[in-house]
Amino acid sequence: MATENMTSGEGELERELTGMLEIERFDPPAEFVARANLTDPAIYERAEADWQGWWASQAERLHWFRRWDQVLDDSNPPFYKWFVGGKLNVSYNCLDRHVEAGLGGRVAYHWHGEEGEEEEITYADLLARVKRFASALKELGIGKGDVVGIYMGMIPEVVVAMLACARIGAVHNVVFGGFSAESVRERMEFSQARALITVDGAARKGNVAAVKQQVDQHMGDLDHLEHIIVVRAKGTPCEMREGRDVWYHEIVEAADPECPPEEMDAEDPLYILYTSGSTAKPKGILHTTGGYLVGASSTHQNVFDLHADTDTYWCCADVGWVTGHTYIVYGPLANAATSIMYEGAPDYPHRGIWWELVQRYRATIFYTAPTAIRACIKWGPEHPGKFDLSSLRLLGTVGEPINPKAWLWYHKVIGGERCPIVDTWWQTETGSIMISPLPGITSTKPGSATRPLPGILAEVVDERDGTPIEEGQGLLVLKRPWPSMLRTLYKEDERFVETYFRRFGNETYLVGDAARRDKDGYFWVIGRIDDVVNVSGHRLSTAELESAIVACEAVAEAAVIGQSDELTGQAITAFVTLQGELDGSDEVESLVRAEVAERIGKFARPKRIIWADDLPKTRSGKIMRRLLRDIAEGRALGDVTTLRDPTVMAALEEKIRAEQASIEE
Ligand code: WTA
Repeated sequence: MATENMTSGEGELERELTGMLEIERFDPPAEFVARANLTDPAIYERAEADWQGWWASQAERLHWFRRWDQVLDDSNPPFYKWFVGGKLNVSYNCLDRHVEAGLGGRVAYHWHGEEGEEEEITYADLLARVKRFASALKELGIGKGDVVGIYMGMIPEVVVAMLACARIGAVHNVVFGGFSAESVRERMEFSQARALITVDGAARKGNVAAVKQQVDQHMGDLDHLEHIIVVRAKGTPCEMREGRDVWYHEIVEAADPECPPEEMDAEDPLYILYTSGSTAKPKGILHTTGGYLVGASSTHQNVFDLHADTDTYWCCADVGWVTGHTYIVYGPLANAATSIMYEGAPDYPHRGIWWELVQRYRATIFYTAPTAIRACIKWGPEHPGKFDLSSLRLLGTVGEPINPKAWLWYHKVIGGERCPIVDTWWQTETGSIMISPLPGITSTKPGSATRPLPGILAEVVDERDGTPIEEGQGLLVLKRPWPSMLRTLYKEDERFVETYFRRFGNETYLVGDAARRDKDGYFWVIGRIDDVVNVSGHRLSTAELESAIVACEAVAEAAVIGQSDELTGQAITAFVTLQGELDGSDEVESLVRAEVAERIGKFARPKRIIWADDLPKTRSGKIMRRLLRDIAEGRALGDVTTLRDPTVMAALEEKIRAEQASIEE
């Protein structure tokens, strides 16, 4: 945290927070408990005694066209099936049933645009829009099992598109708007998408990105992509290819306003979401209909202590990530919640915009990432200080470990010391929150996600043999299936088993994070154990970054590591060797950065590039990233004798010293 340049008020806050670091645990505030839905700790034991029964009770939260015959089929691990024989429709659960129950007039989203535009979308409005768009998709020939890509920003149509797919049984594949069109092409190709829903342009901090134009440059050669549906969001000029491209507003207007929901099997796919793994090829995480919605609805209700009739809930993630899928779209809608949806960035049009919106819509629940909190800390408490945040009653975080000081700042400056904080640990793969406090029950400790939710069995185990560690550090695993777990990697069953179940057998899910358990059994997630870097809560694979960098003509070889960073958690450092006699000039540096922006997205550009003459390799030619991490972070180097050429490290140390000296100049 920046301590210099602080005004005296900030100095005082800094001192207070430092003092608070001594506080080991925070009990749920009495005023919160008095109104909380769940206050009896026996819920954990009850769920533990009959965990399948617990999940069946959570499934009762939904509407089923046909009830399930069996809660869990575990006859073929790790390919589990939940709510076998059950039939339901996700859009029916998220919309129709609420409208039928008389809640049609309730606001589903207070949408707020980057330039201050506002739209109030009720459940009845959303249902009407979803039905029409679902009909339009059907008229284009899209149906059950077809994959449909979605590539747009935080506008209401993204929710309409997801639910319309769910209504007709099409499988959506959302690509985060910050990814490049090249990444979209790759994801459409892997999933053999038949249609892509996108926008003419997207707002980016006062500018408009010409999204459709970029898409056109990359999607031309995909034969399976029969339709591109374009939402006219910003009036950005673009070409429409005859026979392939259609305007969203035109097909919606011509469509049948009625569209009955498809009765889906509980195990039918709902969506694919690509995420980074250890290799360059992203993993297509596959989620299904019944189990996923049970997990989303149950955790959204319990972790956020939702009172749907009075709360205004705001998750400020992007729908392009799993947090947006589960906690902007499916969880809140399944629970008939009223949400805020904001199109823009936290610092546009000004650094207090989030807090202005909390005040404007009287938000009661606020869910964000530690990296955003750290940015707010850097901007200073005067920004939230200008607004009335007294409506807030619960705060949440997700995406990366939160450092205790950021936790305390959040608690004090945003939460006014009255709001419990739920630090929620989960992953794209888990579909919903796994480890988190229940805010009316669990005492919290700053920096710990506390304990697994009812029904979840998490453990920290010894990395050598998988024996459980009661107190101490090891690998985090989940030892029991749960409804919202991924079912496989799309079209890659073997990779699914290999990635998550090879290490400790088919009944132990390997999370990929290291964690520690303390004397009270609390979990402290430390970070990834694989070659995945977590930058501002965005998962990136080092292999994927390396292949983007070496695609640059000047580059011979690259090795990427995640380096700890005060603001973004981790930041990308690339060690790059160049072709022939080339030198690492500013020009080559911009070429490398541009290549990464083009192939992955701007957010993935390396923060630091170290030009190397050679990289440290073992005798079998494997790059030793551990050594690169040590050297980049200025730690003493361990054993280098296993290197093919031990002099490489000395040369690199020299480079880094020179880099340091030039920064200091
Ligand atoms: C990390 C985001 C510590 C972790 C929902 C995990 C966390 C990865 C937390 C998943 C947390 C997520 N504390 N670390 N509360 N939440 N992580 O798939 O390393 O984008 O494996 O899902 O983020 O990232 P993903």
